[in-house]
Amino acid sequence: MAERRKVSVVGAGSVGATVAYASLIRGAVKTMALYDIDREKVRAEVLDLNHGSQFYPTANVIGADEIAVTADSDIVVITAGAKQKPGQTRLELAAVNVAMCRSLVPSLLALSPEAILLLVTNPVDVVTYAAVQASGLPSRRVFGSGTVLDSSRLRTLLAQHCDVAVHSVNAFIVGEHGDSQVPAWSQAAIGGVPVRNWSPPGRAPLDEQTLERIAHEVLTAAEQIIRGKGATNYAVGLSAAGIVEAVLHDERSVMPVSSLLTGQYGIDDVCLSLPSIVDGQGVDVILTPPLAANEADALRRSADTVRGVERSLGI
Ligand code: 2OP
Repeated sequence: MAERRKVSVVGAGSVGATVAYASLIRGAVKTMALYDIDREKVRAEVLDLNHGSQFYPTANVIGADEIAVTADSDIVVITAGAKQKPGQTRLELAAVNVAMCRSLVPSLLALSPEAILLLVTNPVDVVTYAAVQASGLPSRRVFGSGTVLDSSRLRTLLAQHCDVAVHSVNAFIVGEHGDSQVPAWSQAAIGGVPVRNWSPPGRAPLDEQTLERIAHEVLTAAEQIIRGKGATNYAVGLSAAGIVEAVLHDERSVMPVSSLLTGQYGIDDVCLSLPSIVDGQGVDVILTPPLAANEADALRRSADTVRGVERSLGI
């Protein structure tokens, strides 16, 4: 696996450029290729990333407005597409980004037949489903960043409230990377203490009101950031870089990526996030933690929402 280190990022907008930047400074890649139809933009991002090369582990950064620059990639990260405007939901982007994905995926795979595809473009669950269909590949190799980002937001807020390191929080958002997402509170724990039992001496407890406030903050995080600066990029870039690393290092990390469900909780034929073991070939095993009944119901409603959008697009 050590030599499998070419990563291509499709789309050199703020998300694509940040995925590239985060992957480079974490030393995850050997060759980073950026592809964007905007020649000036991609050239500028490549120059800027290259000029910092003294300060990240040795890597080659290339880029072009020609798709051939992505040839022989081990992982292709797709970030291209229309982005949310203030007040818009992720699902409103579906038609245009699904069409883009369906035309790009076959060309990308013709150049990189062994690649793993990581979808980041929103609405990521719908776009991932379209990519699975357009690729003809086993769904293990085509998956989306899903709720890895939302789960990071959730862990951050829990860590801040409880005054513990974020790495000590084990908690997931499952379902859609969007408005129907589900915080899996029944499975969330800090040092083995379920969040609903959290009340150590000298620390604020986690009452239901606090859990609701945190869930609401996670749900509205992107909207708040988009209102302030037009787009989100750092946390999503780091999340995608973390997934790239998990694949390149064959980590078998458990991450809530979005992949094709095949009967989990009675849901199939839709891409949604559940904690999944990510290895060098992509999604190895989708886990089915013992969700509370109301969480499993909410997850099924989330699946219905995403499936409804897919059906409206005829996919
Ligand atoms: C985010 O959640 C917009 O999906 C992007 O930051």
